Amino acid sequence: MSTATETKHTQTLAALSVGSADQVHELFAELRARFDAETSNATNESSWKALRDAWFGRKSGVLTLVTDNWLKPASPGLKRIVGASLNELRTHVDAQIEARRLAIEAGAEATATTKDRVDLSLPGVVRPVGSHHLIRQVLQEIEDIFFSIGFSVVEGPEIETPYYNFEALNIPEHHPVRDDMDTFYLELPKGTPGPLLLRTHTSPVQIHTMEKRQPPVRVIVPGKVYRRDNPDATHSFMFHQIEGLAVDTDITFCDFTGTIDYFVKQFFGETVKTRFRPSYFPFTEPSVEFDASCIFCGGSGTAQSGGTCGKCKGAGWIELFGAGMVDPAVYGFVNYDPKKVSGFAFGIGIDRLAMLKYGIDDIQVFFQNDVRFLRQFP
Ligand code: FA5
Repeated sequence: MSTATETKHTQTLAALSVGSADQVHELFAELRARFDAETSNATNESSWKALRDAWFGRKSGVLTLVTDNWLKPASPGLKRIVGASLNELRTHVDAQIEARRLAIEAGAEATATTKDRVDLSLPGVVRPVGSHHLIRQVLQEIEDIFFSIGFSVVEGPEIETPYYNFEALNIPEHHPVRDDMDTFYLELPKGTPGPLLLRTHTSPVQIHTMEKRQPPVRVIVPGKVYRRDNPDATHSFMFHQIEGLAVDTDITFCDFTGTIDYFVKQFFGETVKTRFRPSYFPFTEPSVEFDASCIFCGGSGTAQSGGTCGKCKGAGWIELFGAGMVDPAVYGFVNYDPKKVSGFAFGIGIDRLAMLKYGIDDIQVFFQNDVRFLRQFP
C-alpha cells in the first residue's frame, strides 16, 4: 500500500508494511527530507511557529505521532532501531528549528538596521541662517581697525547716573551742552535713589574705565545711546556710538591725529584725506571735529554729472565725528595726575558712518527690519 509521506506518521509500521531495519531507516529518511523541505519554507516568525507546532506539538505534532504510532507499537525486533532513529530525527529537528529561529531573528534585525541607518549621502536639512545687521558689520570693521593698533573693547551700562553721563565729564548742571543731549530720564518708584537716565553718549565709559584702570589705557567702547531727538533721515532716538580713549604718559596731539587718520584711511580707503576743525566738548581740550574728503566726489565738490556733489554740497568734505585731547579737568574725577598723563578721546556715530560708507540716505531703514534692505548686506 502506498501512503502519502505527509500522513505516514499517522499510521503504524504494521499498517505501512514496514518490517525490516532498512525499511525503518528509509521511512525516517523520507520523514527527515520532508522536515527539511518544510524548514526551508519557514522564512518569517509566523511560518516558523507553524513549523515548530507541526513537529513538536504535544498532542498532534509529527514527533508525538511518530512516537505513538511507530515506536510504541513496534515489534520488539524493530523497537530499538525505531527508538534510535527517532532520537536522531528529534535531535535534527530540534537543532534545525533553533537554527531557523536565529536566522529569522538576525534577518529581522538586519532589516531594522537598514531602515534606521543614517544615509550620509542624503542632502542635509537646510536651515535658513540670518546674517549680521549692517550696523553690527560696520561696528566689527571699526573694531578690527582699532584692534590692529592695540586697542581693546570695553562696555558700560546703558542706564547711567547724571554723574557719569555729565558731571564727571566736566558737564555740570545747567551747562548748555546738556540741551544738545536732550535726555530720557527713568521714572523710578518712590524712594528709589535717583535720578537715573539712558546714557546720551558712550563717553561715561571713559570715566568707568579710568576709575578701574591705571594708564596706559587704550580702549574702544561700542554701544547703544539714547536722545530725545525727533526721528528724521539723520536722527534716531536710539543710535550707536563707539567711543575711543587712549591715555598714557606721553600721548601727543600728533599721536591723536595720526591715529584718526589711520582709522579713516583703513575704513574709507587710502585715498581719503582727513582734516580737523576746532570744536567744543567740555571733556576735551582742545576739541575738534574730524572731516574726511568726500568719498562720493573724491573731494572735488563736483558730481560725476558735472553738477554740485549732493553729498558734500560742493564742500569736498564730509563731517565725521567729534574728538579731542582729554581735558585735564576729567583726570581730576578719576584720580589721574594731569601733570603726568595725557590722552585723546573720540566719539563716532556708527549709524551715520555706515550711511556714508554704504550710501544710505535714511537712518530709519536700520531700525525697520525690512528684509529687502537687510538682504542687501549679507
Ligand atoms: C558726543 O556724543 C561726544 N560724546 C563725542 C565725543 C567723544 C567727543 C569723545 C569728544 C571726545 P555728539 O553729540 O556730536 O558727540 O555725537 C557724536 C555722534 O553721534 C555724532 O557725530 C553723530 O554721528 C551721532 N549722533 C548724534 N545724535 C544722533 C542721532 N540723534 N541719531 C543718530 N546719530 C546721532
